[in-house]
Amino acid sequence: NSAIKLAPSILSCDFSRLGEELDAISSAQYAHVDVMDGLFVPNISFGMPILAAARRASPLFMDVHLMIERPERYLKDFADAGADGITVHVEATQHIHRAVQQIRELGKRAGVTLNPGTPLEAMRPVLGDVDLVLVMSVNPGFGGQKFIPQSLERIRTLRRWLDELGSPAELEVDGGVTPANAKAVVEAGATVLVAGSAVYGKDGAQAGLQRFREALA
Ligand code: DX5
Ligand code: ZN
Repeated sequence: NSAIKLAPSILSCDFSRLGEELDAISSAQYAHVDVMDGLFVPNISFGMPILAAARRASPLFMDVHLMIERPERYLKDFADAGADGITVHVEATQHIHRAVQQIRELGKRAGVTLNPGTPLEAMRPVLGDVDLVLVMSVNPGFGGQKFIPQSLERIRTLRRWLDELGSPAELEVDGGVTPANAKAVVEAGATVLVAGSAVYGKDGAQAGLQRFREALA
């Protein structure tokens, strides 16, 4: 299925070879950039300087996933560092509409997401205002975790809600996505697949991406 977009997560790449690791995913649609603050999630990844380096090294669309408390504090910094799209968690801000609005005003693609334990209803009020909806299929914080099976039902529900609204928003899925479950995730209604360990994990990202394309063909 060629309409499905792949978004390899550079969290799983070799940062000492960031430029080459980005070259290896140049056939993908987005580079997924996982920012963690050690507060919203129990891990720290990287921030603006690494995004800026990735931006200099690659023309890929930078799909930035902010796993940080009160993301509104840093939206402009991430936009300036080279984000093309910015996704924020409903749990991380008191004012999700304002955060989405700010991303829009910065001229970036606005995305919203939520943790697997958060009712989907929390996202419903902003569904009509976003360009991308991200379903987390693991508890965010680490690469290489197992896909939570109940996520498929959540993807189906969001697919229905977006269709009811007539929304053209992308429906992205992140966490534990592999060539083995990619087809089921797409059949549930996803249009963008994030994958970290399954792309960069074994024999290089080009081979990893190829396995996804075969699984989706
Ligand atoms: C999880 C991150 C994911 C992660 C995915 O906290 O948001 O984007 O990098 O990694 P895999 O595909 O290995 O689950
Ligand atoms: Zn992510």
